[in-house]
Amino acid sequence: MDSFYIKGGTPLNGKLKVPTAKNALLPILACSIMCSGVVTIPECTKFSDVKYMANILASLGAKTKFEDDTLIIDSGTADKFFISDEYTKKVRSSIFMLGPLVARFKQAKVAYPGGCNIGTRPIDLHIKGLEALNVKIEERHGYIYCDAKNISPGEVHLDFPSVGATENIIMASVLLNGTTKIYNAAKEPEIEDLQNFINAMGGCVRGAGTSTIEIVGVKKLHSVCYTPISDRIIAGTYLIACACAGGKVALTNVNSTFNTALIAKLKQSGCNIKTKNDNIIIEVGRRPKSISKIETMPYPGFPTDLQSQMLTLQTLCRGTSVIVENLFETRFKIYTELTKMGADIIVKDRMAFVKGVKTLYGAAVTAPDLRSGAGLVIAGVCAEGYTTINDVYHIDRGYLNIETDLNNLGAEIKRIK
Ligand code: UD1
Repeated sequence: MDSFYIKGGTPLNGKLKVPTAKNALLPILACSIMCSGVVTIPECTKFSDVKYMANILASLGAKTKFEDDTLIIDSGTADKFFISDEYTKKVRSSIFMLGPLVARFKQAKVAYPGGCNIGTRPIDLHIKGLEALNVKIEERHGYIYCDAKNISPGEVHLDFPSVGATENIIMASVLLNGTTKIYNAAKEPEIEDLQNFINAMGGCVRGAGTSTIEIVGVKKLHSVCYTPISDRIIAGTYLIACACAGGKVALTNVNSTFNTALIAKLKQSGCNIKTKNDNIIIEVGRRPKSISKIETMPYPGFPTDLQSQMLTLQTLCRGTSVIVENLFETRFKIYTELTKMGADIIVKDRMAFVKGVKTLYGAAVTAPDLRSGAGLVIAGVCAEGYTTINDVYHIDRGYLNIETDLNNLGAEIKRIK
């Protein structure tokens, strides 16, 4: 398994283009199985999670191929509705296949999903949502069996605005004869992107980005060429990296409105941030101030996927900070690793109390999950001396060559194979 060897202590300067988003690509790939034509996705970022998802589509009988960075999916030949745990344990988003499979085959058998180890991550909302559309579901021997012979449009009220459940229910409803409504839907930009993708294939989805989504069924979805939105979590990670390391970084291909929660906090810390068209420029001269309280929330609140990186920033700020994690119960695993680097952090249940220190020191650490891994890379880039990070395969799930990006900005990171 690869590791990173980082020589810390350099500021970050330069320009980076942010790639298309993992969390937009994954549901879009899943949804492609419902298309009667060919789906072409230019600039499809080859995150390892995206490659696993493309493998799932191929295992169902779809033809998938990359031509450079363009992914082409022809689902006409797909004839299977079964996904084994060999695939699902690698990528949690395999759960997104439930909706598209029942839409296309009126049945599905999918093994329980794996993915990042950040909490219990139940799937009850996905299941209740599909049951509200008259899908009969049984859970046996580690598999979810869906019988959708009698699937019909309906009204779904989500007890919590789950991103994945919202996307699954949208996809299950697109080809039904009638209108489905989702109340208390998640409002993440990736859901609006899924809506735009479906509508570009001739579907009819309205309201994504608000808490009520309406899906008017259509008979079929036609071929499409669609470029997904850029990755707001990668953009946020690099803004935080610059806030920690100092310097001046310009990000292109970003929509700054997707990162308003983070930008507000970085400005409060004393970072100079300018946004124009699809660019964000951050300039950081002196050690930032701590943010007294950061609480993760569903969009447009502060994203849980930037919490670990923000925790790393707080370890180096002037002052103290409290971070409250409301989404995933075990998402503070980074703190034991940061403590090895000299951070002053106390974690109690879902809260982390952070007292900023002037310097972190390089150490041997292990990435516990995807975003914690990114937080550790930032810590390594800022630390005095050398840092080794093991298990970087977690990071590769959601960053495409993070070391190349940061090295282009002046960092010194080597991947050891
Ligand atoms: C998606 C993102 C992930 C992000 C998360 C929250 C993708 C591929 N992944 O994950 O990067 O961290 O949104 O922004 O888009 N829950 C239930 N029952 C369910 C489903 C969820 O209780 O059936 C709970 C979860 O345990 C969690 C909360 O709802 O506490 C949010 O989860 P959800 O929005 O579903 O996250 P994901 O779709 O898994």
